[in-house]
Amino acid sequence: MSNSKEFSPGEIYEPSEETRKYAWVNNERIYEMAQDYLTFWDEVAKNDVEWFEPYEDVLDDSNAPFYRWFVGGKINITHNCLDRHIKLKGDKTAIIWQGEPENEKEKITYHELYQRVCRFANALRTLGVEEEEDVVTIYMGMVPELPIAMLACARIGAIHSVVFGGFSSKALRDRINDAESKVVVTMDGYYRRGKVVETKRIVDEALENAPSVESVVVLERTGNDVNMVEGRDVWWHELEEGLPDKCECRPLDSEHTLFILYTSGTTGKPKGVLHVHGGYNVGTHITTKWVFDLKDRDIFWCTADIGWITGHSYVVYGPLSVGATVLMYEGAPDHPQPDRWWSIIEQYGVTILYTAPTAIRYFMKLGEEWPKKHDLSSLRLLGTVGETIDPKAWKWYYKHIGNERCPIVDTWWQTETGMIMITPLPGITKLKPGSATLPFPGIEVDIRDEKGYSADSGELVITNPWPAMFRTLWGEPERFAKQYWRSNGGLIYYTGDGARKDENGYYWIIGRIDEVLKVSGHRLGSAEIEGALISHEAVSEAAVVGKPHEIKGETPVAFVVLKTGYEPSVELEEDLKKHVRNEIGAIAVPEGIYFVEQLPKTRSGKIMRRILLAIEKGEEVGDITTLEDVTVVEKIKEVMMARK
Ligand code: WTA
Repeated sequence: MSNSKEFSPGEIYEPSEETRKYAWVNNERIYEMAQDYLTFWDEVAKNDVEWFEPYEDVLDDSNAPFYRWFVGGKINITHNCLDRHIKLKGDKTAIIWQGEPENEKEKITYHELYQRVCRFANALRTLGVEEEEDVVTIYMGMVPELPIAMLACARIGAIHSVVFGGFSSKALRDRINDAESKVVVTMDGYYRRGKVVETKRIVDEALENAPSVESVVVLERTGNDVNMVEGRDVWWHELEEGLPDKCECRPLDSEHTLFILYTSGTTGKPKGVLHVHGGYNVGTHITTKWVFDLKDRDIFWCTADIGWITGHSYVVYGPLSVGATVLMYEGAPDHPQPDRWWSIIEQYGVTILYTAPTAIRYFMKLGEEWPKKHDLSSLRLLGTVGETIDPKAWKWYYKHIGNERCPIVDTWWQTETGMIMITPLPGITKLKPGSATLPFPGIEVDIRDEKGYSADSGELVITNPWPAMFRTLWGEPERFAKQYWRSNGGLIYYTGDGARKDENGYYWIIGRIDEVLKVSGHRLGSAEIEGALISHEAVSEAAVVGKPHEIKGETPVAFVVLKTGYEPSVELEEDLKKHVRNEIGAIAVPEGIYFVEQLPKTRSGKIMRRILLAIEKGEEVGDITTLEDVTVVEKIKEVMMARK
């Protein structure tokens, strides 16, 4: 452990006696004990999850970076999420669901969840979903049937691909086609800010050009009119009619694919990050238990949408594997009033809240009078994820939500890592606002400079494999092997995040160093938004940068070169925004679009986004000698001055 120096007094928040005493992990020696990481993960895998057949080896690294964990073992994550619990606590609530309309709610026990998953698994089988490589795309709002559909796929060894409900029909279509999905599971609609989002209509548009899809299962939720295509579309409740609520849990190989989840990178095409049953179960289970110090009586609320990795790992698989009660809320945080979240916490006695800094900044702006209206004393632990939390927001969260009683776990991880990687452990870690603190036991991280040497600041890397790591990119093994891994006395995983390490060995994440944006905690690629803009008839070239934003963290801003024959106008700007909304979704729409004559490019033709960002922020542009045409900087500045 690198806790070399004494902590300097000041901004340190120590675990309370109470937290330390009762926490799952209350001995700092855990880090030392986990230094032999294979023994550590072996212990966790044996003690914390159940296997149908034991594994022979903890890790096979003979074909790195295509690592295999718990080699030869047989497992099924749904056994650990369901079957295992119903023996002892079948009547315990697994999911508390709160719809956006206040009177719509539901509590589902572990036993009921088990039955509903089994029944839907049987339903999927009637559609021919069975084989190992079958991908079921799930496009739904936050309703219990979403995790039910995921678990049903996993139970029969099919692969799910959940697409965030905020993505457009075009984005959905691309993901369906890339995965060659046979079945789509969706719903008529769900509520968002009092309005119905017409999910099925979006699916219909997506399927206009998605030849692999044979069946669409439609859950009835809002009762809005939908168009059912004969021979293709079937209602969820009709499909399930008469089917048994038992379904054998298929023992699967540890390395059997559990899901793919598309995420953004530096190219226009989203990557299908692939996770497997065994290692992902082990990694999400133990991090849920230790990082959130989850106990049987807790009510755990992770506010992430299940369409993102945080929802996969910490709404669905981790907490259910641990046997927790999770809360799911369908709607907007501020509907019908800005205190909706706080009223939910009070109503259900939520004990652990896990959310994103963007939400905290938003509530901070609305003012503490909203949380003050509610009794939040049930809370005992808070968490954040998705982007760096600035100390001001951290302290606001600590004071106004946690009442200066609740530790905050600032957790750093990624879609690719599958599980939390850098985080405090609430019983032992001294907190510093703004730092994700230390790697989870068994995880080794470092910071490397451009030459690959260890440094105090540079790119964050992970130097040993971990169980919940992604195994490949769907259909793109070369991209997987080439893009993330570098060999430097062993294979090292490059995260794409800039970070620094302080005198206590604490990590401070600075943000992405590649062309990936975090907009309200959501991950988007510059190249994707640029691709969407270029697909518009008027656009010849486009560059997108992330501009700092008070609440969203970052917001996309676009620089566009028009084709000859097109003139800049307010109407065209609006039309381009609409186009991006249709191509990707509302989250990707640029806040501003600047029409420029030329983009700053190097002589080899690479767009220098760094320069655009500096101009946008009103900062010095720095070295521009590598530009093909240096006058472009002044010209772009003029365009921007004229607009401001
Ligand atoms: C960022 C989300 C600072 C980071 C789980 C990472 C964070 C990207 C933190 C992954 C944190 C996540 N502090 N930055 N605690 N957590 N990030 O794949 O840039 O949607 O690379 O996974 O989010 O985003 P993704």
